[in-house]
Amino acid sequence: VAAEKDGHKHFMHKEIWEQPRAVADTIRGRASLEQGDVTLDGMELPEDYAKGLERIVIVACGTSWHAGLSGRLMIETLARVPVEVELASEFRNRDPLVSEKVMCIAISQSGETADTLAAVKIAKARGAKAFSICNVVGSAISRECDGGTLFTRAGPEIGVASTKAFTTQLCGLYLLAVKLGRLRGALTAEKAREHLEALRLVPGWMESMIRQEAALMPIAKRCAAARDVLFLGRGGQFPVALEGALKLKEISYIHAEGYAAGEMKHGPIALIDEQMPVVVLATREPAYEKTLGNMEEVRARGGHVFAVVSEGDTHAASLAEVALTVPPAPPLLVPLLSIIPLQFLAYHVADLKGTDVDQPRNLAKSVTVE
Ligand code: G6P
Repeated sequence: VAAEKDGHKHFMHKEIWEQPRAVADTIRGRASLEQGDVTLDGMELPEDYAKGLERIVIVACGTSWHAGLSGRLMIETLARVPVEVELASEFRNRDPLVSEKVMCIAISQSGETADTLAAVKIAKARGAKAFSICNVVGSAISRECDGGTLFTRAGPEIGVASTKAFTTQLCGLYLLAVKLGRLRGALTAEKAREHLEALRLVPGWMESMIRQEAALMPIAKRCAAARDVLFLGRGGQFPVALEGALKLKEISYIHAEGYAAGEMKHGPIALIDEQMPVVVLATREPAYEKTLGNMEEVRARGGHVFAVVSEGDTHAASLAEVALTVPPAPPLLVPLLSIIPLQFLAYHVADLKGTDVDQPRNLAKSVTVE
């Protein structure tokens, strides 16, 4: 087993490091710069169908649901179609409003999650066409989707806490958003080419995130001693805050909450004291000045601010005890990068605490029962 870890102490660590390769594999053969378009092998997306779409409903659980929240922003921005993101376990237990003009997108690493599979069946029964983004070829969800599946090609993910599956899902959603944008006439070939050129730079940018691993050890030490940790993000970084918090609680058993930065004053601010680490995603998003305001509010209450900021943003960095930097990627691609330090943070906190990183208590890699 040690050999399979390629010298890494845990599978999760190996899988974090594999992300540049995994994302390059997701993109390979699908993004054509020459044509300014995307080819999705195995997906049926006729132009008339894409143009007539009224709405997209994304269904997923856990980390895949966080990917869906990020995907909403990508699809709404690039393809100009309204997107709803539903927890599959909620969607399946009501009478959802779905029609033939709705496209259902299921996101699932394993392709076997019972709630997500049930949600797909319900959407299909109400006339929607179902697509999926899955990692496992031949899985139940991919077989159920009549519209086809975009396989993420992340390779087997052994660690229960999902890492490379998440970033490759984001990459798949971005490809799908560009494809839908082209089909619906929301993106010119030239614009699509720009988006795809940026996507091709992601693996290299991910390498620069991985190189910062050692810099976050002071944050990991502080968080390992904490009872609660708060993660804040705004806009495209809100799903990253949710995912960062989920990673930490899953493997270190520390209570962690991801919050939309603008909601801090509506609750979590009450928890902030000298013991409280707050991890802020403060890259240059729309309204990011307000996130800087959140950092100041945390500091004023004695909280410990750790931040992920845009490269060169010395002002944002000066508001944090430790700041990690993200290269100048377009905002829609920043989540693929900013999640990496949060994955490392969860990993190192768990490792410091000596918990079972790859097999956390009570959790399963794939929840196939209800
Ligand atoms: C479990 C796993 C998570 C995963 C979720 C959804 O809770 O521990 O890592 O995000 O299921 O799984 P799926 O295979 O559908 O993406």
